[in-house]
Amino acid sequence: MNQVSILNELETNQEIKACCAAVYESDWARLLLGNSFHPGGLALTERLGLLAGLGPDHRVLDVAAGTGASALYLAERFGCQMVGIDFGQESIAAANASAAEAGLANRVQFQLGDAERLPFEDGAFDAVTNECAFCTFPDKRTAAAEMARVLRPGGRLGLSDLTRPGPLPTELDGLLAWIACIADAQPLEQTTGYLEMAGLAIEQTEAHDEALRRTVADIRGKLLGAELLVKLKKIDLPGADFDQAKAIARSAAQAVREGKLGYALLVAQRSTS
Ligand SMILES: C[S@@+](CC[C@H](N)C(=O)[O-])C[C@H]1O[C@@H](n2cnc3c(N)ncnc32)[C@H](O)[C@@H]1O
Repeated sequence: MNQVSILNELETNQEIKACCAAVYESDWARLLLGNSFHPGGLALTERLGLLAGLGPDHRVLDVAAGTGASALYLAERFGCQMVGIDFGQESIAAANASAAEAGLANRVQFQLGDAERLPFEDGAFDAVTNECAFCTFPDKRTAAAEMARVLRPGGRLGLSDLTRPGPLPTELDGLLAWIACIADAQPLEQTTGYLEMAGLAIEQTEAHDEALRRTVADIRGKLLGAELLVKLKKIDLPGADFDQAKAIARSAAQAVREGKLGYALLVAQRSTS
């Protein structure tokens, strides 16, 4: 690859991240997903925390924390200290406001950051969590290496994400599908491969396809409701392309039904040496 195409690729990657962050900061995301932007909601976040062995003396990094619901939940449930990073400035502001509102600002802080360039020292965290976002990182190898780097020896990564065992229908291949974590969903072995390459040992994987099926069904219902509200002029969603969004949601529901799209949770450990 020559220098110009490397630069073009870097620019495109930054645009993808910025676009993804903007979508998850939009009224659309709040309307369709609420506060917790991943299948399984906070119940699956709790499962991730249990399997990753989070505890009161732990300092934990949530990579791609969104508006902070998971980090706040983990801090309350496991008593740990949380730092969240996200690419979206507005998400970070909303997350810090929620931490203050919950009286947790002394134990939970959020800051702007890129998963592919984490602004922390080597070994700074006892655990790292990453929910429903690995699929959206353009450079997965670097993101995996970064999450491993900031873990202390023996520290654990808890990750959940969309998976796909084989090829996806072409209508699930555009930018919107990328941002919805679908277009670049990897086979589970590919994700574990990135993590192993980064020096992490996979301890456990679990399939949670049913959680994804419920989320997609829920989004389809809410899309119909939102379209009706826009038609009735009860709400305003500028630039909303309901036909495209409904087509992606319909196709995603079919892919989940046919086993072409799933959701998985995994825990991996950095070696103790
Ligand atoms: C599907 S949401 C998941 C948010 C949160 N983890 C949750 O489960 O509620 C994906 C998030 O990834 C963030 N994101 C995308 N690319 C990123 C990057 N390179 N670095 C940090 N955050 C990123 C987006 O801004 C968005 O908040």
